[in-house]
Amino acid sequence: MENKTIYILAIESSCDDTSAAVLCNDKVLSNIVATQQIHREYGGVVPELASRAHQQNIVPVVHQALAKANIDKKELSAIAFTRGPGLMGSLLVGTSFAKSLSLGLQIPLIEVNHMQAHLLAHFIGDDLSKKPTFPFIGLTISGGHTQIVLIKNYFDMEILGQTLDDAVGEAFDKSAKILGLPYPGGPLIDKYAAEGDPKKYPFPIPKVGELDFSFSGLKTSILYFIQREVQKDADFISKNLHDICASIQYTIVKILMLKLKNAVKKTGIKQIAIGGGVSANSGIRKALKDKEQSSDWQTYIPKFEYCTDNAAMIGIVGYLKYKEELFSNQNITAKARYSI
Ligand code: KG4
Ligand code: ZN
Repeated sequence: MENKTIYILAIESSCDDTSAAVLCNDKVLSNIVATQQIHREYGGVVPELASRAHQQNIVPVVHQALAKANIDKKELSAIAFTRGPGLMGSLLVGTSFAKSLSLGLQIPLIEVNHMQAHLLAHFIGDDLSKKPTFPFIGLTISGGHTQIVLIKNYFDMEILGQTLDDAVGEAFDKSAKILGLPYPGGPLIDKYAAEGDPKKYPFPIPKVGELDFSFSGLKTSILYFIQREVQKDADFISKNLHDICASIQYTIVKILMLKLKNAVKKTGIKQIAIGGGVSANSGIRKALKDKEQSSDWQTYIPKFEYCTDNAAMIGIVGYLKYKEELFSNQNITAKARYSI
């Protein structure tokens, strides 16, 4: 394909964030995210409410993304959208919107796998940060997934290990719920952990396959521990919140680092890139930076705005696929379960 300027409009609606971004080649011109607040009062994402909120948000969010990028829709080269995985009702909103717009504007449509996008976000070119080279190991840590992935090329990925039950984001959110914190609790545990003692309350490390994860046992042991302590002292949580959060975060980060060490040992690959909402966590960011300092690992940590769900990461995949002319047709449908 000749060297021309490519403008991609990207749409993300897989869970509870409605997002639209405009990219010029690999650079992000705008990345608007409308995070749905309605779920907070329910302690988790309510699928039906999420799809309704996407319907309300999608047009204004796309307008804002185009306006901020200072691009008219007639200048767009293609529309990229999240096909899956995610909540069916939520995915349908973005998918139908993208298909209609591509039909109306007579420009190519590009489907994107959300989990691939979390990892390929590292190829966004709007700063001078170093980029991983193939092959590298990806760790996707989000509210729905926890996977160790061998990334051989942009669209050639192999899952080496994954969670057998809860995702790591769920481990954070469910622990937070036990502590009476609102959804999503991951960022709050991170915040309170900053001032706590990480070794105050030891929690067990699950024994599963060397590249697999399991977080449901950890959640249960946190629940039993809290119930036991609250029986002795009703104010146990409020008196020790920082130490409890620091101990939970310490255990989760320890599990993630242990699995990464196993993956490096198994593959001999020492480039590690993380992606997904939990990569915003300060504990895992610090552990990776420390490991880079103390060993021959090279670690790649996304900028905060590309950690949690956003359309810029969908846009970079759209750009990479556009260059390869990997276009979709109008028969394409959303896919709630969609492997990397
Ligand atoms: O990737 P994401 O935005 O959505 C999914 O695709 O699931 O990830 C959301 C998850 C939530 O579980 C949220 O609690 C977690 O990422 N999260 C964090 C932090 N920021 C977001 N977990 C721990 N520490 C954080 N700072
Ligand atoms: Zn995600």
